[in-house]
Amino acid sequence: MGKIVAIASQKGGVGKTSTAINLGVSLAIFQKKTLVIDMDPQGSIAETFHLNEFEIEYGIFDIFVKKIPLSSALMDIGLENFEIVPSNVRDEEDEVELYTSAFHIKLLSNVLQPYIDLYDYILIDCPPNLGTLTMNALAAANSVIIPIQCEYYSLKSLGKFLRSVKNIGNKFNVKLSILGILITMYDKRLKKSREIANDMSKSFKDLLFQTKIPRNSKYRKHHL
Ligand SMILES: Nc1ncnc2c1ncn2[C@@H]1O[C@H](COP(=O)(O)OP(=O)(O)O)[C@@H](O)[C@H]1O
Ligand SMILES: [Mg+2]
Repeated sequence: MGKIVAIASQKGGVGKTSTAINLGVSLAIFQKKTLVIDMDPQGSIAETFHLNEFEIEYGIFDIFVKKIPLSSALMDIGLENFEIVPSNVRDEEDEVELYTSAFHIKLLSNVLQPYIDLYDYILIDCPPNLGTLTMNALAAANSVIIPIQCEYYSLKSLGKFLRSVKNIGNKFNVKLSILGILITMYDKRLKKSREIANDMSKSFKDLLFQTKIPRNSKYRKHHL
C-alpha cells in the first residue's frame, strides 16, 4: 500500500513546493512509483515543469468540482515512475469554487482510495493556509512534512500549526502522523540560523528532521 504524505504549512515561501518536487523526483529516481498532487490553486507544480494552461487538459479543479476521475488528470512529464496531477485554477471564481467543493473534507481521501495501491508514494503539495484544501490533504494523508525556515517568527507559529494539524487529525483522520519538521533554505554561516535550529531541536526534538535543506543561491524557481 502506498504512503500518502502531505507537505503543509500555513506560510507561503517556506519550500513546500520545492520539497514536494525534489522529494518526488528523488523517490522516482530510486524506482519508487510516485505521484505528486498540486492542491495549491497557484499551480506551481505545473509551472515548475513548464506546463502551460493549454497543455493541462484536466487538473484538481475538474476532480473536485466536476467530479472527473483522477486518472483523467494524471500527467506524465517524461520521468520514469513519476506523475503529477496539476492544479488548473484559471481565476478567482474557480478558486472559490474549488475551496467550496473542498468543504467535504474527505473528498480527496475518497478520490485517492482506488489509487493507493498503484503508487509507492503520493505527495500532496498544499496551499499556504489551513483552509479546506489543506484539510482535505491532511484527511487523506498518512503523514505530514512541515517545511520551515530558520526564523524566529516561524518558531512562534509552528507550535500553533502543530496543534491545528493534531486537531484536524483527531477529527478527520486518526491515523495521521507528523513525519517531521524540515528546515529549509538553511544558511549555516549565519549564527542566528544556527541558534534557531538549536532552539528548534530542543523544542521539537524527534519531530525535527536531522537533515536540513541548505539555501542554494543557484536555486531558481521553475528550474529543477
Ligand atoms: N533550498 C533553497 N535555496 C534557495 N531558494 C530556495 C530553496 N528552496 C526553495 N527556494 C525558493 O524559495 C521560494 C519559495 O519556495 P517554494 O518551494 O515555492 O515555497 P512554498 O511552496 O512553500 O511557497 C521559491 O522561489 C524557491 O525557488
Ligand atoms: Mg507552493
